[in-house]
Parts: sequence; structure tokens; C-alpha cells
Amino acid sequence: MGKKMSGRFVAGMSVEEALAACQRVNKEGIAVSLDSLGESVTTEAEARTSADIYHQLLDAIHTRGLNANVSVKLSQVGMDFDPALAERIVGEMVEHAAHVQSFVRIDMEGSPYTEATIAMTERLAAKFPGAVGTVLQAYLFRTEGDAERLLNEGIRIRLCKGAYKEGPEIAFPAKSDVDSNYVKLMRRMVTFSNPTTGKGVFCGIATHDEAIVEQMRAFVREHNIDKSAFEFQMLYGIRRDLQHRLTAEGFGVRVYLPFGPEWYPYFMRRLAERPANVIFLAKNFFKN
Ligand code: FDA
Repeated sequence: MGKKMSGRFVAGMSVEEALAACQRVNKEGIAVSLDSLGESVTTEAEARTSADIYHQLLDAIHTRGLNANVSVKLSQVGMDFDPALAERIVGEMVEHAAHVQSFVRIDMEGSPYTEATIAMTERLAAKFPGAVGTVLQAYLFRTEGDAERLLNEGIRIRLCKGAYKEGPEIAFPAKSDVDSNYVKLMRRMVTFSNPTTGKGVFCGIATHDEAIVEQMRAFVREHNIDKSAFEFQMLYGIRRDLQHRLTAEGFGVRVYLPFGPEWYPYFMRRLAERPANVIFLAKNFFKN
């Protein structure tokens, strides 16, 4: 039953199912970030198994000419018990991605990982410029500084609101403050220009919040910002109407496409974000 219910947000259990879903999404003019679900592994063998799937994905992206990259969580490749191992494993993925002109996005997990994730991204980006980026969360107070840090290093940022439970000493407790910070940061990201090179940094505006999407569209129009400076990013199965509308208007849109048997924590976070999903999924389940 859980598997069936998660199908709305999870694109299948196997690599082949995920690649088929990726192809379908690509046909709609939408790019993809493939995420092999998994977090908090406890052995090197599990970490290596996760990594193998990512190498298969990168090969398939290359050979099948998919408009896709990959997203990975550090806790999925050993960060909790051997950070050096995690860095070696992600480094190999980034090197592979660089060879096939793809890209690795290191997802951002809870705040104990924030600094380590940013620092690792910086080290890998220094070795493979343009092939790796990370995610910043608008609910954290520190994010404004982190955004400046990464922008100045030319590292691509995906901006999201943040999906983990964080305390009021480090994160905005009020949703309205998170939203305002999000808008401030997204404006900064798309107008940033490196003082030495004059270059901007391509970034991902990851949200389903239509009011924020609206503000971005207006901002881009008013400031004559090229649509190629950024892309909107949304989760697979959420606000497909908005994804299609933005694509039709010529904006870049990327869908984050999770798959795999380890769907449970991902699925629970999506339900927690929007309790209405429980009703939606339950209705669907009983219909099928
Ligand atoms: P918000 O939660 O304010 O929702 C705005 C509206 O969007 C809702 O009213 C509803 O209509 C719709 N909506 C939002 N969530 C929905 C859902 N689950 N089901 C149905 N409708 C929904 N977080 C993180 O901490 N680390 C990460 O690496 C990432 N990565 C990431 C990638 C991408 C591409 C996206 C879109 C999001 C993430 N996130 C993430 C998750 C993010 O932090 C956040 O929890 C969710 O995107 C929900 O926030 P919104 O910006 O959509 O707005």
C-alpha cells in the first residue's frame, strides 16, 4: 500500500523505471535531476552500492542523451561514519559527471551537515569547476552569507526553503520570514555578477510557491534578466500545471526525480510539508 501511495512522488523502484520517467519528462521540454533515494547508510558497502547506481545513471545520461543531472545526499555515501570516504565517493561521481558534461548536485540535509556539505562542495568544485554544486536553505540565518561565499566562487546554488526541523536559534521560525528571505536571496542570486570576471552564476530556484514564482517572473521582466541565467526546479509529481506553464513561457524547468526502494523518509517529508497530501494520496489509493 505504501509503495502504491508513494508512486505519486517517486518515479519507480529501479534505474530503468527512473530513466523511462526521465525520458517522459524530457519529452515535455523539462530537464531532470535524478535522485537515487537513500540516506544515513552505515557501512562502506552500502555507500559503494549507492555510488554504483549514480555511475549507472551518469553513463545512461550520456549514452541516451538525456537532459539530466544527478542529486546525491552525503549521508547516503558514508558521511555519518567516514567523511573522507564520502568525499572520495562523491569526488568520483563529480569526475564522472565532468567527463560526460553532466553535473552533480549535493543535496542539503539537516543543519549538522551544512558546513561540511558546503566545504566539500568547494573542494570538489576547485578540482572540477562547473561539475558540482549544492543547495542552500532559506530558513537558515546563515544562508545569506553562504550564498555570497558560493556565488563569489562561481559555484551553482539550488535555493530551497528547507525541509528539516531546525531550532529558532539557527532558523526563521515564521514561514513569512522564510518566504521573505527566499525572495531576497533569489534576487541576489540572479543579479550577482563577479567583480573580477563580470560573470553571473547559473542557479536553481526550487519552489512550488506560486507567489514566489510570480515575484521571480516580475523581477526578471523588470530587470531584464536573461531567462538562461536560472531555472525553476520542482519535485516530480508536484504542481505539474505550473511546470508546464513555465516551460511554455520559455523558462528553464527541472524536475527532481527520486526513485528507488528507499522511498520512505523522502515520502514522509513530502507528506509533512503538506498534510493535504495524505488525503490526496488516500483518495487516489482507494480509487485505484
Ligand atoms: P511551500 O512549502 O511554502 O509550499 C508552497 C505551495 O507549494 C503549497 O501551498 C502547495 O501548493 C505546494 N506544495 C509544496 N510542497 C508540496 C507537496 N509536498 N505536495 C504538494 N504540493 C506542495 N529541501 C532541503 O532541505 N534540501 C534539499 O536539498 C532540497 N532539495 C529540493 C529540490 C527541489 C527541486 C525542490 C523543489 C525542493 C527541495 N527541497 C529541499 C524541499 C524544500 O526545502 C521544501 O521543503 C519544499 O520544496 C516545499 O517548499 P516550497 O518552496 O514548495 O513552498
